[in-house]
Amino acid sequence: MKKIAVLTSGGDAPGMNAAIRAVTRTAIFNGLEVYGVYEGYKGLVENNIKKLELGSVGDIIQRGGTSLFSARLPEFKDPEVRQVAIKNLEALGIDGLVVIGGDGSYRGAQLLSHEMNIQTIGIPGTIDNDIAGTDFTIGFDTALNTIVDAIDKIRDTASSHERTFVIEVMGRDAGDLALWSGIAGGAETIIIPENTVSIDETVKYIEQGMKRGKRHSIIILAEGVMGGNEFAKELKEKIDIDARVSILGHMQRGGNPTAFDRVLASRLGGYAVELLLEGVSGHAVGIQQNQLTHHHFDEIFNSTHQIDLGMYEISKKLSI
Ligand code: F6P
Repeated sequence: MKKIAVLTSGGDAPGMNAAIRAVTRTAIFNGLEVYGVYEGYKGLVENNIKKLELGSVGDIIQRGGTSLFSARLPEFKDPEVRQVAIKNLEALGIDGLVVIGGDGSYRGAQLLSHEMNIQTIGIPGTIDNDIAGTDFTIGFDTALNTIVDAIDKIRDTASSHERTFVIEVMGRDAGDLALWSGIAGGAETIIIPENTVSIDETVKYIEQGMKRGKRHSIIILAEGVMGGNEFAKELKEKIDIDARVSILGHMQRGGNPTAFDRVLASRLGGYAVELLLEGVSGHAVGIQQNQLTHHHFDEIFNSTHQIDLGMYEISKKLSI
């Protein structure tokens, strides 16, 4: 192994820069040449690949987004499109590729390692925390803190005006962001795809709270269940309340990464390079019970990330 490339793909996540830095510096520390691929798989196809030096990744550990930029390229499923990427990688003599992204990004890496002589390693980077084989993905903690900050602010105005707020949070099909932020933000109701709560049950919780003199109610709704506006409309058909909707949207993906995400990204990025040096390929790294782990891509594709439903039970007891 002499030359490796690194790319970020799919939705950006705070902490991706810290991972790029860790991959680059660990590789250079070990005598490898490192190339940055700009705009994910699109950059591989368009040959937007540049050599990275130690200084290329300076002053980025604290920044959100990704300095290598990101893109979604569904066309990468097409073997002819991949052939163009393969030629570009071969022309540079790249024999290792680190892909930072979600499991869709891992699939691209796996196809490449089947079709050319290249070792691949995936690093979980997404705010959704929806990847199997790791307890946490890079970006989750930062997005979580952004949401909690928003909930705290909304709670102030909700209480002043005696309102119910439906706060729609990201997470794609996973409820982790909703569950963790709902607990940390003291939400009355948390609605996640893994354990949906009916409108009637939500009405019951709101009425219970009203009876004991609560001036507001916060409902955290995971986007994977339904849209916030639709939910509030259904709610207002059942109970006469002043309900407002707040869709947090893409602000959840931005901002400086938390210390947790920076450290996680630094650990996973360094580990990814060490595994490449050991000859491992077609695996993704993760952190499980605070230990660095790695699993074959197939194992990750064939299992689903498990949300901690014990936490859901805790949230129900705390919001009575
Ligand atoms: O996967 C990250 C994520 O932010 C999801 O939470 C959200 O559903 C999706 O990406 C939004 O994608 P886009 O930025 O393409 O609208």
